[in-house]
Amino acid sequence: MPYPVVDISGTDPDLFEQLGTKSKFWFAKERKLYLYKQGRANTGENWAEVVSSRICDLLSIPHAHYDFALYGKNEGVICESIVPSGGRLVHANELLARFDRSYDVEKKHKQTAYALKTVLALLRKVSKFATLPPDWQDAPKEVTDPLGLFIGYIMLDALIANQDRHHENWGIIAEPLHRTVYLAPTFDHASSLGREVTDANRKDRLTTRDQRRTVACYANKGLSAFYDVEHPPRRLDTIETFRRAAKQDSKAAKAWLDRLNLITDDSVNNIFQGIPSDQIRISNLAVQFAVQLILINKTRLISIWEEI
Ligand SMILES: Nc1ncnc2c1ncn2[C@@H]1O[C@H](COP(=O)(O)OP(=O)(O)OP(=O)(O)O)[C@@H](O)[C@H]1O
Ligand SMILES: [Mg+2]
Repeated sequence: MPYPVVDISGTDPDLFEQLGTKSKFWFAKERKLYLYKQGRANTGENWAEVVSSRICDLLSIPHAHYDFALYGKNEGVICESIVPSGGRLVHANELLARFDRSYDVEKKHKQTAYALKTVLALLRKVSKFATLPPDWQDAPKEVTDPLGLFIGYIMLDALIANQDRHHENWGIIAEPLHRTVYLAPTFDHASSLGREVTDANRKDRLTTRDQRRTVACYANKGLSAFYDVEHPPRRLDTIETFRRAAKQDSKAAKAWLDRLNLITDDSVNNIFQGIPSDQIRISNLAVQFAVQLILINKTRLISIWEEI
């Protein structure tokens, strides 16, 4: 199925979104609120966002749904707001600061206080008062609370090599009118799937016989946004992050791995088939590299089943 490219040229921005690094604005259409986000030119950010959104569909992970978009000559993506009218997205940095007054809410990167241990402890606290997203239809029965769902987000990050789950890229949604609080669907996966790798580098890694240069080596080097608490602090790799998180709720983690196990090579390949390569600027090498990366990460994730 080809992907739609939604033309929003001529749309008047209602509000510019200040958070995040990319240029973006909110606009209303047919009583719904959408965010247009413009990936930086030639970075692959747009296709990484849309493809990751389709991977979430395969895993039935609640997520912001992204489509390609054109705004005049600018290429970007659009997504409907995950925050219902009257609701508020409370980002992780705000939550972390409530538990630790010294937490630096402004420091998105190189934030050593953003430790996996701290974040998991926060999620255990959040799980006492917050629920799963109320519209999420197909939660595995073993996933019962925000911590269990967040373990799914961490598995997703490892699968797509997302290195950007910093403290403004997840949070909880509070709806005071309905007296509900729940973990927000996952959003912002534009820094994933090796989108930043050059075609020359991809070609080299896809064809080399040098075991130190392969796509698997790239996969092994994937770092999550979370730090270890040891000295000196270091960022954990994506698989180690999942391994540690999984131990907090092994039933939920195994349910996520079961879902992952059902994803076939064909279904991953199919996701890339409908991307209009001329408009969206995804090269054949980018597709081959991203597919291999996903399949390698899938195998690496499944292989730790016994350990959790
Ligand atoms: N679908 C959505 N619904 C509600 N709020 C959203 C949605 N998508 C993004 N946001 C809000 O907009 C902010 C910026 O969006 P996003 O994280 O996608 O931008 P970015 O520029 O890619 O960020 P980064 O600097 O992390 O790469 C988010 O932190 C969140 O507060
Ligand atoms: Mg972001």
